[in-house]
Amino acid sequence: MVFSDRILECNQSPMRKFHTIAEDTKKRGIKIYQLNIGQPDIVTPAVYYDALCASTQPTLAYAPSPGIPSLILQMIRYYKRLGVEYTTDDILITAGGSEALSILMNCILNPGDEVIVPEPFYPNYHSFIGMAGGVVRPLQTNIDEGYRYASREKLESLINERTKAILFTNPGNPTGAVLTDSEMRIIADVAKSHDLFVIGDEVYREFVYAGERLLTIGMVEDIADHAVIIDSVSKRFSACGARIGALITKNRSLRQHALKLCQGRLSVSTQNQIAAAALYNVTEDYFHDMREEYRLRRDTIYSRLSKMNGVVCAEPRGAFYVMARLPVDDADMFQSWMLTEFEYDGSTVMFAPGAGFYKTPGKGQNEVRLAYVLCAEDIEKAMDILEAGIIAYNRR
Ligand SMILES: Cc1ncc(COP(=O)(O)O)c(C=O)c1O
Repeated sequence: MVFSDRILECNQSPMRKFHTIAEDTKKRGIKIYQLNIGQPDIVTPAVYYDALCASTQPTLAYAPSPGIPSLILQMIRYYKRLGVEYTTDDILITAGGSEALSILMNCILNPGDEVIVPEPFYPNYHSFIGMAGGVVRPLQTNIDEGYRYASREKLESLINERTKAILFTNPGNPTGAVLTDSEMRIIADVAKSHDLFVIGDEVYREFVYAGERLLTIGMVEDIADHAVIIDSVSKRFSACGARIGALITKNRSLRQHALKLCQGRLSVSTQNQIAAAALYNVTEDYFHDMREEYRLRRDTIYSRLSKMNGVVCAEPRGAFYVMARLPVDDADMFQSWMLTEFEYDGSTVMFAPGAGFYKTPGKGQNEVRLAYVLCAEDIEKAMDILEAGIIAYNRR
């Protein structure tokens, strides 16, 4: 039996590839501090479960393919508070931001079409773009410039007749970089003048730590037809398991095409949409408290990493990840060794090896992405283990 070239090209997720080894490590009684995946430990707001329990329909029917009206209405209100006007026709509810990305790429890419993505990038972009027949065109950034990527020259140097879109995560996964108003304007201008889609993956919108306004590509005027927002309740409300997201665009043709795929998959979970609608009732205090908690975690991990011998990292300004260059030859081998041969007071650490966040061969080999999704106390312990691990690994 022969598999498709596209699936053979598709890589394993660098966040999850050590899962099986980690299971063995746990069986040996070793505790693992998991900084490899962006699974927040914050409690999901009670309103989610209240709404879920209150929803007892005699027949659990399919929801409408574009999403249930009450959830779409809640999202419209949420965006209005940010200063962006959307209507029911602008929002399609999807099974997480992941499905929104997959639907979008299938709507806009022909075989060989290119999507410009600042590198390092969220590795699943590679899968979504590749499975739709497209190709990631990496825009190289570097740690010393804080991974900034909004340069007209850089962007235009990558554009050719196959370029269909510019895709970025803002705030950034894995870098924590946050776009300024003027940087967004630069990207919007490039997209407009070359007639490209500009896709803002904004699933981390609330996670900014320097007091910035919560930006969205939807705010940028005069590119309404080009702009697409990938949205999700996963991180915003610490509700990853709800699997609720959205594809948001004012481009009518794109919506029509995307709706065909939404109809093809029939609907997103009715119950989870009802419960997700209730999430949008949380007050500003919820976001404030969550942001303060993550700011503490960010400060803790950044301060510890900055003091480690030979470690280089840029201060993340948003999301809940930090990329760090470690003084090791190969982060993949180091992770494997940390799980199979190392322990510190009965514990070890998991992170995501950096190479999987790059397309450019050879890049990210000695880098890792750390998700600061544990409490500050656990992050301190994890950093003790990482520091001891680096020393022991280099002494072998
Ligand atoms: C940048 C980015 N986009 C999209 C997603 C998808 O999230 P979900 O499908 O849970 O909404 C993630 C998840 O980690 C992410 O980090």
